[in-house]
Amino acid sequence: MSGERSTSARDVFRAPKGTHDILPPASRRFSGFVDAFSGRADQFGYGLVVTPIFEHLEVFLRVGESTDVVTKEMYEFDDKGGRRLALRPEGTASVVRAFVEHRPTEPWKVWYSAPNFRYERPQKGRYRQHWQVGAEVIGSPDPDLDIEVIDLATGFFAALGLSRVRLKLNSMGDAESRAAYIGRLRAFLEPHVSTLGDDFGRMLANNPLRILDSKDPAVIDVVERAPQLPEHLSAEASAHFEQVQEGLQALGIPFELDPRLVRGFDYYTGTTFEFAAESLDAAQDAIGGGGRYDGLAAEMGGPAVSGIGFGIGIERALLACDAEGVFAVPAAPLDVFVIDRRIDVAGTAAAVILHELRVEGLTAEKAYGGRSEKAQWKLAARHEARFTVVLDSSAAELIVRERSTGEEHTVPRELVVGWLYERASGSAIPSGGLQGRRP
Ligand code: HAM
Repeated sequence: MSGERSTSARDVFRAPKGTHDILPPASRRFSGFVDAFSGRADQFGYGLVVTPIFEHLEVFLRVGESTDVVTKEMYEFDDKGGRRLALRPEGTASVVRAFVEHRPTEPWKVWYSAPNFRYERPQKGRYRQHWQVGAEVIGSPDPDLDIEVIDLATGFFAALGLSRVRLKLNSMGDAESRAAYIGRLRAFLEPHVSTLGDDFGRMLANNPLRILDSKDPAVIDVVERAPQLPEHLSAEASAHFEQVQEGLQALGIPFELDPRLVRGFDYYTGTTFEFAAESLDAAQDAIGGGGRYDGLAAEMGGPAVSGIGFGIGIERALLACDAEGVFAVPAAPLDVFVIDRRIDVAGTAAAVILHELRVEGLTAEKAYGGRSEKAQWKLAARHEARFTVVLDSSAAELIVRERSTGEEHTVPRELVVGWLYERASGSAIPSGGLQGRRP
């Protein structure tokens, strides 16, 4: 990647490689996505957690010192006080750090919406800054929580309108069963190092589980005959995994067992899962994923408590929505557009009406910079304003045009806000006003 380090003079004033701006009107969809997730998380009893965008490097090292995200892709830096810090590559480590620091009541159920930073090779659906919404529950191994977080994510995708999403499920087992399995896997794969090469040998030494989800056909061929993780679970891990599956079945949530599903971080134990969008290219089809991480809090100096959660990639999930033609968030038509005919008269009349309408919770706009009346009508049409109020030389009466019928009404100035409110909402302004609430 050394060739891409220099940035030409032209490019320094563009968003850095692998990042992007989100502008209106597309940003409506982005915020609509986060709002929909927030609403669902709220329904499930999850509170919003906001953590710093950077942490002490050690926090993220706990994510997995044998993973690419930590060893190759992290944005690390020293601050002016000589602290070694890193931009958040994923959300879970920060949330667990906050749990360990504040020790809230358990189980601690939180959700977040945040940008993450990974120095990846950018391509469609893979960026150096990407956004995730996610949820974490810390403090209980109860399988009902595995079911709950999967239900939260599954129902969210359905609420977006996505129907071609597959849920892949696996269990990494507890520390004991995992260690025993890794031993068996190593013994099975060791004889293949001579034919599969040095990279394979290195991966086998550092992180043998990652070999299971290799995309290399020669490796896949060997892996298909390798011992499988779920067959090596301890009795306890196996019973837990059974309960999770029974729960999902009881809720009517379809899933497929995928014994080769290995997620990208070292902290996973027990249940792991991923949501694959069938509408996206296989290389970037994971629109979300998560699992249990029973040792993470203890590794950060906290209590030995269990945790589970997931992250959903906002950009990728929106690409899946595009591919399925769902979750369009059309601009809401404006309630009122104020046209000022007295363009040569300096005054505050238009600004005052606008203010009064907005105080009552109506959406209202006007043109700026002394635009011609024709240009103002054009703008009103572009906003699809339901009502247009025309300010004329008469201060006492205003003309209101209703877009749907084309009807014009003459309304006394002192009644116009109430009149518009009533027409826009179908009810009168309650006594005491609305204090900005939408009708
Ligand atoms: P992750 O699988 O690395 O998990 O990321 C979650 C989701 O973020 C992915 O499924 C994908 O949709 C999106 N994503 C990841 N990297 C990129 C990228 N470079 N560009 C665009 N989208 C991306 C985690 O981050 C874990 N913290 C999830 C978790 C929460 N596990 C337990 N709790």
